[in-house]
Amino acid sequence: MRNLLVTGGAGFIGSNFIHRTLTERPEVRIFNLDALTYAGSLENLRDLPDPERHIFVQGDICNRALVDRLLLEYNIDTIVHFAAESHVDRSILGPGQFVQTNIIGTFTLLEAARQAWLTEKRLPIDQVRFHHVSTDEVFGSLAPLEPAFSETTPYAPNSPYSASKASSDHLVRAYLHTYGLPVTLTNCSNNYGPYQFPEKLIPLMILNALEGKRLPVYGDGKQVRDWLYVEDHCDAILAVLERGKVGETYNIGGNNQPFNIEIVSAICAILDELLPESPLTPHDQLITYVTDRPGHDRRYAMNIGKIERELGWRPRESLQTGLEKTVRWYLEHPEWVQAIRQTGDYSTWIDKNYAQRGGTK
Ligand code: NAD
Ligand code: TYD
Repeated sequence: MRNLLVTGGAGFIGSNFIHRTLTERPEVRIFNLDALTYAGSLENLRDLPDPERHIFVQGDICNRALVDRLLLEYNIDTIVHFAAESHVDRSILGPGQFVQTNIIGTFTLLEAARQAWLTEKRLPIDQVRFHHVSTDEVFGSLAPLEPAFSETTPYAPNSPYSASKASSDHLVRAYLHTYGLPVTLTNCSNNYGPYQFPEKLIPLMILNALEGKRLPVYGDGKQVRDWLYVEDHCDAILAVLERGKVGETYNIGGNNQPFNIEIVSAICAILDELLPESPLTPHDQLITYVTDRPGHDRRYAMNIGKIERELGWRPRESLQTGLEKTVRWYLEHPEWVQAIRQTGDYSTWIDKNYAQRGGTK
C-alpha cells in the first residue's frame, strides 16, 4: 500500500481516514477524489499532518476518463472507496442521486480498476486492492431479540440508501468472482465523531441543543443503532487493508446498542456538565418527538466476532468516551460549524426535512 486512491475523502469518514493514515503510515501517498457535494468540504482537510503526501482532485467517481487518468498517472495500487450519498432521509426525498453515485459510481471505479490491474496488468496482482466501504443497513432491520447481523446474514435493504449500497456491494462481489479483482469489503454500523455533517443524528442534536433549538426525535425514539466512534472505524479499515484476506467481508461495529432517545439524553447530560451556567440547562427540555421517518428500520446490531478474531481489531472508545470527545470537538470548533452551515444547502435541507414533521413533547 503506497499510492492510495481515496474516494469521498472530503466527507466525514473519508477525511478522518486521511488524517489517521497520513499520521500512522508515513510511506503512503493519498490521492483524494471527491466531487465536493454538499457533504464534502475542504474544511475537513485543513491541518493535515504532512500535507504534501495528500493530493486533492475535485471530480466525480462516475467520470471514467478521470478515474482512468488518476489510476495511470499516480500508479494507484489501492482504492479505498468511501464516496457515496449517505443520508437515509435524503434518499427518501430524492433517491435518483443515490442510484447514480452509489451504484453507477462504484461500477465506474470497478471497471477502471479491472482495466488497469487485470487487463493492462500494470502492477503485480498481489500488490493491488479495491476496498469497498459499506454499511450495516444492507441487512435490513432486526426484531428485538434477533441475533446481531453477521457476515452471512442475507441482504434485505429497506431504504433507497441501503438498497443502493447493497447493489454496490453485489457489484464488488461479482468483480471478485467473475474477474478475480482483489477486493475486500467492510460493512460498518453508524459512525459519529469529528467532521460529521450536522444533518446526522448526533451532530444535529449537539448543535441544536447549543442553540436552544428543539431536538427532533423521530417516532417513539426507541429505534436502536450500533454506534462506533469514527477513528475506530478508520483503524478497522487499515487493519482490513493490511491484514484482511482478499475476497472477504468484515462486519465492523461498536458493541453499543442504545435507543435513539438514550443517545439524545446522553448528549444533553454531557452538555449540562460542560455548560452548567447555560440558561438552556437542562438541555433535555428541548427534546421533541416528531413524525417518524417512512420505513424507519427499527434495530441494527453488529456481530464483530470475525474481525476481532481474525484481525485483532476491536473498538477502543466506549459510547460515553466517544460522545464526550465528540461533544467537546463541536464545542471547540465553532469556525468549522459556521463554515459548514453557511452553505445554502444546509438550511434548505433542514427546512425541507423538518418543516412537515410537526412535534410534540
Ligand atoms: P459523507 O456523506 O459525509 O461523505 C461523502 C463524500 O463523498 C463527500 O465528501 C462527497 O462530496 C463525496 N461524493 C459524493 N458523491 C460523489 C461523487 N459522485 N464523486 C466523488 N465524490 C462524491 O459520507 P460518510 O458518512 O463519510 O460515509 C462514507 C462512506 O461510508 C459511505 O460509502 C457510506 O455509505 C459509508 N458508511 C457510513 C456510515 C456512517 O455512519 N456515516 C456508516 C457505515 C458506512
Ligand atoms: P441517522 O444519523 O440519519 O443515521 P441512519 O438513519 O443511517 O441510521 O439517524 C440515526 C437514527 O436517528 C435513526 O434511527 C433516525 C434517528 N433520527 C432522529 O430521530 N432524528 C433526526 O433528526 C435524525 C437526523 C435521525
